[in-house]
Amino acid sequence: MAPVPRTPKAAKKVTRYTYDEIKEPRTPETGHTPLLPADEQVVALPMDNGWSKAIHVGKLPEGDERPVVVDMDPTADPMLFWAGKRNRREVPVLPLQRNEIVSDSRIAQIIARARKTAEEQSGAARQGHLFADLEKTLRENDKGKRVEFYTHEEGWKNKLICGDSLHVMESLLHYEKLGGKVQMIYIDPPYGVNYNTNFQQRVDSTNNDDSEQVDDVLTIKAFRDTWSLGIHSYLAYLSERLFLCRALLAESGSCFVQISDDNVHTLRVLMDEVFGGDNFVSQVTFWKTSGASSPQGRTDALAATCDYLLWYARSKPALKYRQLYTLKDAGRSADAAYSWLELPSGERRPLTDDERDGLLPPPPGSHVFTRADLTSQKPTTVFDLVFEGRTFNPLPRGWRTTQEGMTKLIAKGRLTVVGKTIRYVQYKDDFPAYPITHLWDDTGIAGFTSDKRYVVYTSPKVVLRAIAMTTSPGDLVLDPTCGSGTTAVCAEQLGRRWITCDTSRVAINVARQWLLGRTFEHFKTRNGRLSGDFLYRTVDRVTLRSLAYDLEPERVELLDQPEVDKDAIRVCGPFEVMSLGRYSVEDWKGYVVREPGIGETAKLENYIEVVCRLYRKDAAIQGATGLVHAVAENEREKIAISVGPLSGRVTAKQINDAVQDALASGMLEVHVLGWAFEANVGEVKSALEKRGKVKVELILIRPDTLAEGLKATQPELLFSPLALPDIEVAAVESGKERQVLVTLNGVALFDRKRRTTEYKTADSGYVSAWYLDEDYDGDCFVDCQMFFDFKKAPNIKAALKAEVDPEEFALKLNSEPFPVRSYKRIAVKVVDVYGNESVVVKELD
Ligand SMILES: C[S@@+](CC[C@H](N)C(=O)[O-])C[C@H]1O[C@@H](n2cnc3c(N)ncnc32)[C@H](O)[C@@H]1O
Repeated sequence: MAPVPRTPKAAKKVTRYTYDEIKEPRTPETGHTPLLPADEQVVALPMDNGWSKAIHVGKLPEGDERPVVVDMDPTADPMLFWAGKRNRREVPVLPLQRNEIVSDSRIAQIIARARKTAEEQSGAARQGHLFADLEKTLRENDKGKRVEFYTHEEGWKNKLICGDSLHVMESLLHYEKLGGKVQMIYIDPPYGVNYNTNFQQRVDSTNNDDSEQVDDVLTIKAFRDTWSLGIHSYLAYLSERLFLCRALLAESGSCFVQISDDNVHTLRVLMDEVFGGDNFVSQVTFWKTSGASSPQGRTDALAATCDYLLWYARSKPALKYRQLYTLKDAGRSADAAYSWLELPSGERRPLTDDERDGLLPPPPGSHVFTRADLTSQKPTTVFDLVFEGRTFNPLPRGWRTTQEGMTKLIAKGRLTVVGKTIRYVQYKDDFPAYPITHLWDDTGIAGFTSDKRYVVYTSPKVVLRAIAMTTSPGDLVLDPTCGSGTTAVCAEQLGRRWITCDTSRVAINVARQWLLGRTFEHFKTRNGRLSGDFLYRTVDRVTLRSLAYDLEPERVELLDQPEVDKDAIRVCGPFEVMSLGRYSVEDWKGYVVREPGIGETAKLENYIEVVCRLYRKDAAIQGATGLVHAVAENEREKIAISVGPLSGRVTAKQINDAVQDALASGMLEVHVLGWAFEANVGEVKSALEKRGKVKVELILIRPDTLAEGLKATQPELLFSPLALPDIEVAAVESGKERQVLVTLNGVALFDRKRRTTEYKTADSGYVSAWYLDEDYDGDCFVDCQMFFDFKKAPNIKAALKAEVDPEEFALKLNSEPFPVRSYKRIAVKVVDVYGNESVVVKELD
């Protein structure tokens, strides 16, 4: 795009909106959340609205041919049964752990830097920087624009969580205390048809290749295994999550589930059960973004072009509902009602076919109109009306206005006789918009398919509409099926708070990339605060009432069209990336013996035993003392195995002690297994090995190792050698100040077939993104600089609204120079194309 010359204005201060009325419990800034008391760590999830008491199934004696009769209390709702349906389930409650913060001060810093760079550079864009598009926008045509982002009061941060929705939602309820606080939930679950289609292996491609043995595939395969009862497992899975959604929803809240026609019928019955049939609000039919699909098993039968949104209220009488409108010219189907024409002469006639089909415009000065009912259900305004020499009476109903009102309508030419009745002449241009209905036929806009980031991906238009219809700015929106992050992006766009989660690391990284890499329009607020709502575009509505009483037309706000502040652009506000706390992972899969009298020690031994056996089938568990927990021995080798804690990192001390214990027993090879490792373990390992004799392997336990289903699959795939990204840190002089520059050289990829780790150079196409924390506190990673391989991300182009040379979005391998800060320590996080993250930490001298 050619630069548009502009008179530079003085750049204004970055201002921000705050969600000022929100005070929520929160996880501590860094580190671990203390666990709940032991007796609260597992809760019963009730899944029964009384059905279990309403039903009795008797067993007929052997050989009895009488029909089986279900004896059910007829006052209860009919319902759906599936194999293994239960009315209660024990669910462990795991805390959330914050792994990464994209904080407001960091974003402000980045904006300041983007602005400075934009002013300094007039030519080529800086390459591959996350905010490169922002810089470019500022530089090329919007220098004077303010850069905004929405922030929240200290007590709130948006959340992108890696984890199973069941456990994440339990955690939101019990740790974050969000029961009754969520205004809207949007769920786009797998459709329960083909479990192959709902996951993606790589961050940078929507094409899956089964030969790529990456662990995300394993996770999903494991999930597929746990859905071995097909639709039965699927209904159980949804039922559990829907009950949790209900518990999280505010009294005025809404739950939407997106589904195809394969299961819309079963899901609706299920949602009737969970929310109560009375709380059914609507079944929206919307046009799919990605073309038609064939019905299951037949390619020649009627193609499906629509999906559905099942919408239930937590409590329908209390439902928050904001009527939205579509502008009349934008949709055609509803226009059918307006089939008459009033010519400037006053003559009225039906539209011709060409006029109705839009092939011929109506003559200038004419009005298209509909002949609307002039009566109302309230029989309070009953009188004989004389019009054009005839007398009309509204009984058994009443007129919609008084005698005086009718006189005004007659004077304004707004009445017409239709057979034996009299009607109101309602011009199409009395109100240029229609209330939206449950048919959304404008959501399948062509072009989305080429912009696919994720293998299954909802049109943002659908999600934006659902959010705008049921929430206000600042309200909390939850999507337990994050995928590419459509709901989070739409919530961010509309100034709502959001939480989203996904089991897939690929999904989490696609979402993070999308959120951080785009710009948004900035909307005007009524009073500078999001809680005060936005200013909206309005349209005037001439109503029968306004005509009958000579009133000004009614002013109607278009609540999905906030007024845009053209002097500002906006970037994503702060959020935190979290995962389920690792420390009680074992509780929820039944690894812990729960008999009375078994205390902490028993628990720990059990955990160590499980992990050691998963690592090596031949592991012989050692006694309770010492840091060598197991020994694996055969003719070729004798390996000491030491397992890191569930609740934290493997420390340098553990490695040292394990090595000493191993040496004391004559073992020269030590494998230290951990969920996470302290920053300096690489150096400790080298130092120990340099002293000779001993070989130390640091082994990462994959975060989902104890996940449901996985333990049954090939256990050797659950562990990988700890391999850190290869970086270089150099000092550079910048004036008087010494600054630091970081270069990413390579990333370690684990080849599961050959069980080896191979270093790939950073420019070999395996790095999806890397992040730099300029001042790592040793605990929580903060993104200060972010670099993406944007080559395959067409949405960036769309955000920029510009044609961009793909080279401009190649991954940048050098950081921006930055000063040494207080912790004198940096961390670099690399996300590979499979969504795996690895972090390396370097002390700065
Ligand atoms: C149909 S996709 C959602 C796509 C999303 N609407 C979008 O626009 O990108 C469903 C997502 O749910 C995730 N998922 C499936 N089961 C899950 C579970 N138990 N917990 C969390 N996420 C899950 C899958 O990994 C997948 O990314």
